[in-house]
Amino acid sequence: MKIAIDGPAGAGKSTVARAVAEKLHINYLDTGAMYRAAAYAMLEKGIEPERSQEVVQALPEMDMKVIYENGMQKVLIGGKDVTPFIRTPRISRGASDIAVIPELRLKLVELQREVADEYDVVMDGRDIGTYVLPDADFKFFITASPRERAKRRYLEMKDTDPNADLDEIEREIIARDKTDSTRKFAPLCQAPDALLVDTTEMSREQVIKLVAERVSGEK
Ligand code: CDP
Ligand code: CDP
Repeated sequence: MKIAIDGPAGAGKSTVARAVAEKLHINYLDTGAMYRAAAYAMLEKGIEPERSQEVVQALPEMDMKVIYENGMQKVLIGGKDVTPFIRTPRISRGASDIAVIPELRLKLVELQREVADEYDVVMDGRDIGTYVLPDADFKFFITASPRERAKRRYLEMKDTDPNADLDEIEREIIARDKTDSTRKFAPLCQAPDALLVDTTEMSREQVIKLVAERVSGEK
């Protein structure tokens, strides 16, 4: 079983992907975490993610592994679990910048396909249905208006970050959508055979129900 979930930032991809993987007792692969970990790895080496030549030169030494511990995904760089360090705005931007580099994408796609070869999996990202798993059993394109997606991120951040600013989050999301959907290689776009789910007016539970019912053949 291979399920592809794509869409822009904050649409609820990982929320629904995680829930569906749990219901089906299969693995969940957050491919965004891999782009984030790559950005983290380069920044640690003093390389800015947008400097593609330097990134490409450093790629052979970037030792990334994806492992599962008690069903939870971890991304290791040089053996170190970087998962706790990759959810910052700096890394979000860096992931989007590094994600335009074809050589980097090819390296990560190879790892993603290895996971899909080994396990039944729900994978979320930007190019899963179009590029990584074109033969997936089910494909969903989950979206929502930029304002709604920014509100969702704001709600997640406001307790830990008193400086969180809704307008700034929205600007950052729109900028990242633009970089992601205009890059030449494997951009963010809906696969022709993916089901479009606009979640702007939907609750988390409604989205999970819709996707789970589709996959289990109930609807
Ligand atoms: O993975 P992606 O960036 O697409 O989104 P996420 O990390 O799953 O974050 C979505 C946030 O919006 C979470 O805090 C969810 O609880 C919330 N949410 C949702 O996922 N779906 C809705 N229909 C409404 C809210
Ligand atoms: O959680 P959120 O939706 O904010 O972002 P993410 O899924 O963690 O992805 C971070 C960045 O990685 C995205 O903005 C994309 O530039 C890139 N990405 C990608 O290019 N292809 C994927 N399959 C997944 C992520």
